[in-house]
Amino acid sequence: MNVLFLNGPNLNLLGQRQPEVYGKASLADIQEQVRDRAAKLGVSIDFRQTNHEGELIDWIQQSRGNVNVIVLNAAAYTHTSIALRDAIVAVGIPAIEIHLSNIHAREDFRHRSLIAPVCQGQICGFGPFSYILGLEAAVNVINIRV
Ligand code: DQA
Repeated sequence: MNVLFLNGPNLNLLGQRQPEVYGKASLADIQEQVRDRAAKLGVSIDFRQTNHEGELIDWIQQSRGNVNVIVLNAAAYTHTSIALRDAIVAVGIPAIEIHLSNIHAREDFRHRSLIAPVCQGQICGFGPFSYILGLEAAVNVINIRV
């Protein structure tokens, strides 16, 4: 089982960026937690971050044939990117949307996700634990499909 974790813009700054919203853990800390949990579940993960929309799209396209589920924190692109949404639909790999913060409890412009309607589901508001929940959801999606 291969799960691809994709992280969008500014998530490389976690730990320093608005800690009152996103917490004190860095992306590397979160990656380590996800790796530990994945090892226990017997799942192999690939964990990536980019600030560039096109790179996220390239990675989604390349995952065809070798990734079972994509767990995606598209950050601000969640609210703006039709291209990202189209890429998820195009590859046909089940995707799970995750966020550290509860986007529905924040500014109006964060309430709308262009990605959510083409994902299996959305997890938000649990801080770094959203990533662990995303992994668990990914395993569940794979098991249901097998
Ligand atoms: C975020 C929420 C987005 O609205 C925001 O643009 C981010 C982070 C989160 O994980 O809470 O960059 O995706």
